[in-house]
Amino acid sequence: MDISSTAAVLCQLDDIPDGGAIEVQAVVNGEDESLVVWRRDGQARAYLNICPHAGRRLDWAPGKFLVKNDVLVCAAHGASFAAATGECTAGPCRGDRLRAVPVDVSEGRVVLSGT
Ligand code: FES
Repeated sequence: MDISSTAAVLCQLDDIPDGGAIEVQAVVNGEDESLVVWRRDGQARAYLNICPHAGRRLDWAPGKFLVKNDVLVCAAHGASFAAATGECTAGPCRGDRLRAVPVDVSEGRVVLSGT
């Protein structure tokens, strides 16, 4: 898959509440994936919506994530992740991390980074 020539737009930055996260479906490495996209100010981070603890989705209802003070909490068993880095800072998979999907913010849109 060549995502560098046609940057895939995931969403508008303004679709994401500042300090919050939304779910976006995207093709990553040829696979249809659910992503969690988090925003802080003009920056965005994206991760596979898969918890490293038991492989469950992070959201408590489709597209609804527990995010507070830049910490993303898995709804299944409460693992806490630093939203800016994806590192698990507390809970059953402490020290592990979410799988990051590289994104850029360009002209107010969140796009998959070229690889
Ligand atoms: S699956 Fe996320 S904390 Fe267990």
